[in-house]
Amino acid sequence: MKTDITELLGIEHPVLSAGMARVSQADLVVAVSNAGGMGCLGGVSFMPPELQAEIRNIKSRCSKPFAVNLLLPDVLTSDEDSGWAPVRELWDSLSSADRAKLKGVEALLTKGAVRDQIEVVIDEAPAVIILTFATPRDFIARCHSRGILVGALTGSIGGARKAEEAGADFVIGQGTEGGGHTGHVGTMALIPGIVDAVSIPVLAAGGISDGRGLAAALALGASGVWMGTRFIASEEAYGHDAFKQRVVDGQSKDTVLTRSYTGKPLRAFRNDWTAAWEDRTGEIQGFPGQYAVAGPLVETGYQDGDMAQGMMPAGQGIQTVTEILPAGRIVTDMVAQAESLLKRLAR
Ligand SMILES: Cc1cc2nc3c(=O)[nH]c(=O)nc-3n(C[C@H](O)[C@H](O)[C@H](O)COP(=O)(O)O)c2cc1C
Repeated sequence: MKTDITELLGIEHPVLSAGMARVSQADLVVAVSNAGGMGCLGGVSFMPPELQAEIRNIKSRCSKPFAVNLLLPDVLTSDEDSGWAPVRELWDSLSSADRAKLKGVEALLTKGAVRDQIEVVIDEAPAVIILTFATPRDFIARCHSRGILVGALTGSIGGARKAEEAGADFVIGQGTEGGGHTGHVGTMALIPGIVDAVSIPVLAAGGISDGRGLAAALALGASGVWMGTRFIASEEAYGHDAFKQRVVDGQSKDTVLTRSYTGKPLRAFRNDWTAAWEDRTGEIQGFPGQYAVAGPLVETGYQDGDMAQGMMPAGQGIQTVTEILPAGRIVTDMVAQAESLLKRLAR
């Protein structure tokens, strides 16, 4: 299945696994890239030296192209730290056991760490960097000078236009159905809107879990898909078995858009914690301050399978996820399903 994106990235299948914080570590990236798609490391959850080691780990096990995700909003990269004060105070007051429970957000909680992540990733020069929340023009220019392609993840047409203007090589439109931080426009409306608005290749994301979603994305004008939730239920994903099983057992209506963990709208499993904040939205801190309020709950879902309180990002695409599979099989099965579907439709 050749598309603009397989040509641009030099991959076999137009399927990218999302750079999910914590969930997407080396094992998942290697499995997806070796299967002919492109795996993306959830770079935000590694402190800079660990990020370097994880990228080198991938390189040692996989000669195919892979991507790394970074989050570069101003609040994380500038010296201005007013948004940070509550998070730092929390960090300073934690026991070492609680700090271990915040491992995945340590880089977001440590001044200067995101800037050091940037240097590590540019030095290591993966084939692709995926940017979320912001697309700084000078950063993209630096990537290009190292031969790194840049994709931008956005939930809006305006965000896609900005990314193209800043020099991004392709854009990923994520509909509100998607797991993790997400916007308010549905995939079906967002993707054709972005395709009309930009001239770079577009990937579709949000609610896509199988070959039907891939075929639909191509019909909407996208050149491939970027998929997160489906890969949580893979053998290689990092995360507690209870979290993976919840993705298999869950229904679309079990997810909710909540600011209660991070301060930004995040689609995750509805649970006691998200329900407790539904009537208290006025008290929720901005990003990243709310991380300090949720504290270790940001990790207890992944690490301990605490379904009642822990953060478990997941999208509406869980409806059609029925088993935990090797990630490579998820890629090849969905491509085979899309190909046969497209042949049938052509008849
Ligand atoms: C568990 C989880 C963690 C995520 N973490 C990140 C992240 O660190 N950075 C990011 O850009 N997107 C993150 N996302 C969003 C994904 O990149 C992707 O856009 C989304 O999963 C696509 O929708 P889908 O879940 O319906 O496949 C995350 C999503 C999930 C489910």
